Formats: sequence, C-alpha cells, structure tokens
Amino acid sequence: MRTVKLGKSDVVVSAAAFGTDLIGSRIDQATSFQLLDVFAEAGGTFVDTGNIYACWLPGCSGGESESTIGAWMKERGNRNRMVVATKLGFDYPGCEGRLSAAEIERECEKSLRRLHTDRIDVYYAHRDDPNTPLEETMGAFAALVKAGNVRAIAASNLRVWRIAEANTLCQERGWPQYVAVEQRHTYFRPRHGASFGPQLAVNDDVREYCRARNLTLIAYSILAQGAYTRGDRPVPEQYAGPDADERMEVLKAVAAETGATLNQVIIAWMRQGDPPMVPIVAGSRVEQLRENLGGLEVALSAEQVNRLTTAGNPDVKKAWLR
Ligand SMILES: NC(=O)c1ccc[n+]([C@@H]2O[C@H](COP(=O)([O-])OP(=O)(O)OC[C@H]3O[C@@H](n4cnc5c(N)ncnc54)[C@H](OP(=O)(O)O)[C@@H]3O)[C@@H](O)[C@H]2O)c1
Repeated sequence: MRTVKLGKSDVVVSAAAFGTDLIGSRIDQATSFQLLDVFAEAGGTFVDTGNIYACWLPGCSGGESESTIGAWMKERGNRNRMVVATKLGFDYPGCEGRLSAAEIERECEKSLRRLHTDRIDVYYAHRDDPNTPLEETMGAFAALVKAGNVRAIAASNLRVWRIAEANTLCQERGWPQYVAVEQRHTYFRPRHGASFGPQLAVNDDVREYCRARNLTLIAYSILAQGAYTRGDRPVPEQYAGPDADERMEVLKAVAAETGATLNQVIIAWMRQGDPPMVPIVAGSRVEQLRENLGGLEVALSAEQVNRLTTAGNPDVKKAWLR
C-alpha cells in the first residue's frame, strides 16, 4: 500500500486508515482480529480509534476498540509496524469530555494502558472545547509530545479558524502543531444547511487551509454506511439534496468505465482529490474490507476525477478551488 506523511510531521501512514469504532463491541473479538489482520496483510498500518468507541452501544462503556487493538498488537507483536491514532474530547463514563489539561493527561494514560503501548502516534482533539483556554489545551498536548507519549497531534470536527488559531499559538510558543484534520466526507454532498450534530463535514475552507498550510486531510464516514450500494441503507437525509441523483449517475458511469465498484471509485476519488485525502475504510465483514481496500488500487483519469467532482455542481470548477 502507498504511504503518506502526515503534514509536516515525521509520521508516515498507509494511504488508508482502518476505522475501528465497532471492533471489540458490535464486531466480536475473533472477527475484529481477522479484520485487523486483513488490513495489515494488505500493507495497512494506520488504525483509527477513539477513547469513547463504542460507548453508545448497549453494554459498552467506551475503550472497547482501543483494548481490542491493544490485545491484537500484543498478540501479533506488531506494535512498531502500526501507526495508532486515538482521540479524546467527547464524554463517556468516567470522562467529562473536555480538552482541559487534567483530562488530556488522564485520558492519554487510559488510552496508553488500553492500547498496551507507551506512545500514541497521532492524538486527536475529537471536537472543540470552547470552555477551556486554547493555551491550556495546546500546552497539555505539547507536554505529552515532549514526554514521548504522543508523536503528533491532529484535529477532528474543529472549525478551520480554531485550528488556525491553535496552530498560530503553538508556533509562537514553539509547541507542536496540528498536522492533520479528520472530518466527515463522502461522495454525496451535504444539502445546504445540513447538520451532523457535533460532526463537521469537509468544506472548501478546510480544503484550502489544509492545502495552504500542508495539513493532511483525513475523511470519515466515507461510504455513508453503505448507502451507495445497499437497499437496506437509505441515503441519509443530510445528503439527499437536489444533486444526489446526478452524482449517483456519474458515479455509476465511472464505475462502469473502470470496472471498479461504486465504493472503490469513491475511495479512489478521495485519494486522488485536491488535496488528496486519506480515507478511513471500515467494514464489519472481511469481504467489505477487501472491497474497500481494492479502491486504493483504482487509478482514475484526471477527467474522471473532475467529472465526479463537478457532477451536480457545475459552478465548482477545479481551477476555482485552487
Ligand atoms: N472523527 C470522528 O468524529 C469520526 C466519526 C465517525 C467515524 N469516524 C471513524 O471512521 C470510521 C468509519 O466510520 P463509518 O462507520 O461511519 O464509515 P462508513 O464507511 O460510512 O460506514 C461503514 C459501514 O458501512 C458498511 N460497509 C462498509 N463497506 C461496505 C461495502 N463494501 N459494502 C457494503 N457495505 C459496506 C458496513 O456496515 P455494516 O457493518 O452495518 O454492514 C460498515 O460498518 C469509524 O470506525 C471511525 O474510525 C470518525
């Protein structure tokens, strides 16, 4: 699998991450290990987890995903080959969901313990905390990097101006800056005014900021839970806008031209985007994961990428986005 360097950091990751929010919970341990093995055997190194995964499921209280990854790395003896990203910032049992210095220190310790490791490769602010001074949050992240517990920091679901403010502060203080941004992104475009609650979707602002300041853009919920191909997964109402039919038609046309599946075309389109993104692939079954990883082998022509990008969106020309 190709590799990507995260922003200005020295952290090198596989061209796709494996999304693990359901492993060790809805996905049982044996299947979770199997999925992680498939990802690693395909050359994948970048594993995306979070301290809260998957506290929203019945019988779960958070930490299930991290603990399963930790157990898998221990059993396989492959910690040094994997690049583990985890997050904090949402509340779950025993954690308020703040980005205070105390919580950053405490949650980092808990994540390290569950992951059976002494370092987190990429530590995300999972969402903004407007009630904690930025100086306190970024100072606490800097302390973890200095102590060797964290290699690089990144932002998820933060508005661009807050990321820019944080990075400017860190530059002034000589602290490590956010090197990547993880936002929601799929091929359907969010309807005007659509809300995903605390989740933020990729928009032109974040694209331009990442391009200008050399941050890596990482995309989650890329397949809209399978809505492109599955009758049992309706298109989420936030994406059911006036351009959805046209985008679906172009997606099908490009899939027919390339011989790839719709899901694979979406993954290829993201990887070849401007800026190129690191997609988070997920799947609860080996066949799903294999199909999605196959998307990394698909090479679209520039014309196909442009046709996909502009479908149902004639005003957005590539030149304008630059
Ligand atoms: N930073 C954040 O705030 C944030 C938020 C959300 C997610 N994430 C990350 O992104 C990861 C993935 O999120 P997501 O689950 O929303 O992503 P998704 O790609 O939109 O959905 C994954 C689900 O789609 C179905 N699927 C996947 N591949 C398929 C295929 N080839 N054919 C048919 N169905 C397929 C499976 O559903 P079934 O299992 O039901 O079959 C799978 O569990 C998470 O694990 C997490 O790491 C981050």
